Amino acid sequence: MRGGRLHDGKLPGEKLQGGAGMRLGLQTRAVHAGEPNRHGVGGPVATNVCHSSTFTFSSVAEMKKWAEGKSKAYIYTRYGNPTLAVAEKKIAALEGAEAAVVTASGMAAISSALLGALKTGDEVISTADLYGGSYRLMRDVFPDMGIKVHLVGTDLAGMEELVSAKTKVIYVETPTNPTLRLVDLRRVIAFAKKHKLVSMIDNTFATPLQQQPIAMGFDMVVHSATKYLGGHSDIIAGAAAGSAAWMKRVQQMVIYLGGSMDPGAAYLLIRGMKTIGLRMERQSANTLAVARYLEKHPKVARVYYPGLRSHPDHVLAKRQMSGFGAMMAFDLKGGLAAARRFCERVRIFLLAASLGGVESLVILPIYSSHYDMSMKELARVGVSPGTVRMSVGIEDVGDLIGDLEWALG
Ligand SMILES: Cc1ncc(COP(=O)(O)O)c(C=O)c1O
Repeated sequence: MRGGRLHDGKLPGEKLQGGAGMRLGLQTRAVHAGEPNRHGVGGPVATNVCHSSTFTFSSVAEMKKWAEGKSKAYIYTRYGNPTLAVAEKKIAALEGAEAAVVTASGMAAISSALLGALKTGDEVISTADLYGGSYRLMRDVFPDMGIKVHLVGTDLAGMEELVSAKTKVIYVETPTNPTLRLVDLRRVIAFAKKHKLVSMIDNTFATPLQQQPIAMGFDMVVHSATKYLGGHSDIIAGAAAGSAAWMKRVQQMVIYLGGSMDPGAAYLLIRGMKTIGLRMERQSANTLAVARYLEKHPKVARVYYPGLRSHPDHVLAKRQMSGFGAMMAFDLKGGLAAARRFCERVRIFLLAASLGGVESLVILPIYSSHYDMSMKELARVGVSPGTVRMSVGIEDVGDLIGDLEWALG
């Protein structure tokens, strides 16, 4: 696995300041990557947060150098900030990317990454199965900008017929929100290489702990860092990762469009990321137990979780992921009415949008991520009105299953 930079610019595969020179694991990178040198006397172990919006210069000559691109000094937080830089180095190290850019939200990362790679007249091929906000961006915004969007299913059927000289980007999300379908990453990479397309993936659900698209050959990864990277439901944040050249273009878009991250959010993101390995391990184990329980429940019609053998993409999940994630969905035999009742009866699971935090959440996608979609659009991505999406947290699994038993009883 290729690595991002650790403190002092060292790569994860290199010797870590007097360490054994071994390749560093992902949880070690989550704790240490990007942080300043912490081997001096009296230095803080926790990351400093730099709340300043602007930065001083010692002379006009120094500012002139900055304006001419000859100096990397910080000037203004929309252009960069030391706390944002720590978050970016940590994400790059986790994703095994050369560089990363943090943004004000996942949508800021997605729109800035796509607009960094597309212009009027270009075309993009995307899976229709996407987080609703990404789907609505493709459906409602890009066509008005003269960017044509072709949608395909997660099986990528018909993609060869859609490609033309105008096609510039292939964009996928896997596992998908909310039905947890998977896209074959190797096929996407081969297709992108064959047609010289920029390959982009939303890695929010899998996280770099369980899926490493850059090592497999993807050009860019985007995240809603609001979710598992942050992990505590206390920030709105986003990130993109990839080559230094691509990240320069994404950063430029963030500077133009203004989707930069606040240093306070960056601090919480850094703090959250330090425990991502532990959280993913616990949350995934809880999810598998909950999915197995629900699969056997007489009132449940269908469970969507790639960790279950019954899931249509279980084999693919085992091939391209190192875990099955902590998101799942299910349909009740009683349809929408039963789903509404269930969502209002749970006590430990909270009825709330978003996902990826330490607390377990339930929602109905038709009234949250997938609002403003026709029945035809919902059917295309396998969402029924009664589909319940669950983000499983770190609580004691017996309590979670007890809550489900009560709510379904
Ligand atoms: C998979 C996925 N990508 C992107 C987003 C958008 O992220 P944000 O809400 O941080 O803008 C979400 C939000 O729910 C999501 O679930």
